[in-house]
Amino acid sequence: MSDAGQTPDTIVSFDNVGLRYGTDTEVLRDLSFTLFPGSFYFLTGASGAGKTSLLKLLYLAQRPSRGVVKMFGRDMITTPRSDLPAFRRRIGVVFQDFRLVEHMNAFDNVALPLRVAGVREADLKQPVTEMLSWVGLAHRVEAFPTTLSGGEQQRVAIARAVIGRPDILVADEPTGNVDPEMALKLMRMFEALNRLGTTVVVATHDVHLLKKVPESLIMRLDKGKLSDPTGALKYPPRSEKRSEKRSETSSDTSSERRSEVRSEQPAPKPRAKAAAPSDEGDDGPIDLGPGFKPRKPFGRGPQ
Ligand SMILES: Nc1ncnc2c1ncn2[C@@H]1O[C@H](COP(=O)(O)OP(=O)(O)OP(=O)(O)O)[C@@H](O)[C@H]1O
Ligand SMILES: [Mg+2]
Repeated sequence: MSDAGQTPDTIVSFDNVGLRYGTDTEVLRDLSFTLFPGSFYFLTGASGAGKTSLLKLLYLAQRPSRGVVKMFGRDMITTPRSDLPAFRRRIGVVFQDFRLVEHMNAFDNVALPLRVAGVREADLKQPVTEMLSWVGLAHRVEAFPTTLSGGEQQRVAIARAVIGRPDILVADEPTGNVDPEMALKLMRMFEALNRLGTTVVVATHDVHLLKKVPESLIMRLDKGKLSDPTGALKYPPRSEKRSEKRSETSSDTSSERRSEVRSEQPAPKPRAKAAAPSDEGDDGPIDLGPGFKPRKPFGRGPQ
């Protein structure tokens, strides 16, 4: 991630963004927030609140009606359309309705991002089959989407979204069609990807899941507006601000060492077993990793 003009500390920055479809009233209003690389966010809100619409802005399928959307440090509104595909390839998407390619089997669906990226056929088989095993579908590699259950299709869609190790993963209700045990496994998969450095945004209604997540990681949409009860959207939490500052000056506190250890770990590929979520179906707090906290706080960061 080293585009010219990039603000190094942010991967997404919205400033006073609004979105309307056609001539209707705005479905998203006054959105101003910053997402930091390597962080993990949950987006929630009632049906119709605008979650999918916000995600569409994030995965560059939609341009806002007003405001500024910066991704990877670049203003996406003034970026020529011809440059957008290159940015889109850095974004993994799990669509609410899966959008698998019907005439391709599970293997070919998952292989798609690698083929688009020019990976040689000889190098595809191992990562794709390992990724499908990772989501519990080793036995369904040859299956076409119409023969898969909703939960199986969702897992193929997730495998396709993460196989290319995107810089940012945007997932729209990714656990909506699976049982709680599988939901937890999938969340652990996102967590593993996040530990490898991917910024993750998961839209969910899942109150069971949200109960286990710190408030500062939750983006709440209410009728198109982001509410900000903790103030974390505008101001990074104080402790986070301090540790951010310390890490800039390379001090040596244990909490920073912890995050350094995390970032210095050799980055296994997503297919690596070590990064796979565990199979334990516990019901405790969701494990967002040892000493997990967002690498950078959710808030209005340096612009
Ligand atoms: N393509 C579109 N054209 C016109 N209106 C749209 C379009 N897509 C969404 N909307 C409207 O925008 C609003 C927000 O929709 P959106 O799909 O973003 O909500 P959501 O929070 O994802 O809902 P859900 O939880 O049901 O998926 C709704 O009122 C919806 O009817
Ligand atoms: Mg939606």
